[in-house]
Amino acid sequence: MKPESASGPADRPPSGRASFPRDVAVIGGGGHVGLPLALTFAEAGLRTVIYDTNRETVAKIRGGTMPFTEEGAQELLERALGKRLLEVSATPEFLSECRFLILVIGTPVDEHLKPTFTAMLRAIDSCSGELRNGQILILRSTIFPGISAHVQKDLEARGLEMGVAFCPERVAEGRSLREFRELPQIVSAFRPETVAAVKELFGRFTPEFIEMTPMEAELCKLMTNASRYIQFAIANQFYTIARDHGLDFDRILHGCRHNYPRMAGMPGPGFAAGPCLLKDTMQLAAFSQNSFLLGHSAMLVNEGLPGKLVELARREVGLSGKTTGILGMAFKAESDDPRDSLSYKLRNLLTLESRRVLCTDPYVRDPSLTTLERVLSESDVLFLATPHRVYRGLRIPEDKPLFDVWSWIPRR
Ligand SMILES: NC(=O)c1ccc[n+]([C@@H]2O[C@H](COP(=O)([O-])OP(=O)(O)OC[C@H]3O[C@@H](n4cnc5c(N)ncnc54)[C@H](O)[C@@H]3O)[C@@H](O)[C@H]2O)c1
Repeated sequence: MKPESASGPADRPPSGRASFPRDVAVIGGGGHVGLPLALTFAEAGLRTVIYDTNRETVAKIRGGTMPFTEEGAQELLERALGKRLLEVSATPEFLSECRFLILVIGTPVDEHLKPTFTAMLRAIDSCSGELRNGQILILRSTIFPGISAHVQKDLEARGLEMGVAFCPERVAEGRSLREFRELPQIVSAFRPETVAAVKELFGRFTPEFIEMTPMEAELCKLMTNASRYIQFAIANQFYTIARDHGLDFDRILHGCRHNYPRMAGMPGPGFAAGPCLLKDTMQLAAFSQNSFLLGHSAMLVNEGLPGKLVELARREVGLSGKTTGILGMAFKAESDDPRDSLSYKLRNLLTLESRRVLCTDPYVRDPSLTTLERVLSESDVLFLATPHRVYRGLRIPEDKPLFDVWSWIPRR
């Protein structure tokens, strides 16, 4: 392992592509966004490095095993390692040899729903000994507006001639390998030469670019996610209005959408969860000094849906003394990712209301879960919490209550 460089900026190699024996490093490259991206660069023939502080993840990737499910990724990983285009490290020493550094670590909100950008700034700080003149740092995490400018100034203050770009990730987990090649890439930077270099990098697989200023791009990404979150909240609020009046929301939704193009984009109801939508809506709320009323209202509706289902079940079939069962613990269908899943919130609420709660999921690795067969046979009341495909074909007896917001499991 190379020792961390103690040299100052003046001693660092000059700008220019030839100075860098490797093309691109993905910092946080073992994560849900970073790993598929690193694999896509390697597949495009670039000498790619993954740097991730999670040693267990690094060992898995090095050993040729995907640490999570992502369509098509296992095959790409094996190919990249086989061609020796991918190096994986839990320490940052390779970074100094890469022309592009892409930072894509988690950017959560804290327990008070406030953005915590310190993790990102700390991550840059911890790599600072490996930063070199001529490198380009691409921020890809979803970030609080103004962070890109802060990072560019911070690097300049360290005496580094580095370009900073913000190129937000917009793919959906599970489909990312396909979407990297289909979605336009937003590119923003502080210098035209940085924009040009970043376009050259992503141009290996990206079909189209949209140029913006960094602040516009930062807001664009937050507004995209907040907008989706609000759309889900509309459907969920309409669902609860209909159910509170004893009406079948499916029939209403069908009436709204059928052959009526202006409502074609209306989503159906369901748990709006996961590591992005809520926290990005809250980042936008913080940026607007908590005057983003629609965002906060959407949070109340979406986060309130598990409680609403429990209330309906209590009212309609009773929960006291009963065994309740939850089908699906991942935050969305066909995923093995339980991060910020509302299934767990539902479990907490049912723990208070019922005698015991049994939970299952075909993909999530969690020792507290049990088999589908046991949940089906031992539960008095069932809740669908993730509409995995495998549940679609279930035949649940008519007399067993099922709370299924998606109307995913046919009842007859
Ligand atoms: N998951 C998605 O579908 C998605 C989609 C678009 C955008 N995003 C955004 O992408 C960012 C990353 O999300 P994710 O889901 O990939 O997160 P993740 O938690 O799956 O991955 C982050 C990775 O970074 C590593 N890491 C943390 N600190 C590090 C450090 N200092 N140095 C090196 N590695 C470090 C972690 O070990 C982890 O493997 C977030 O800002 C998120 O909002 C996510």
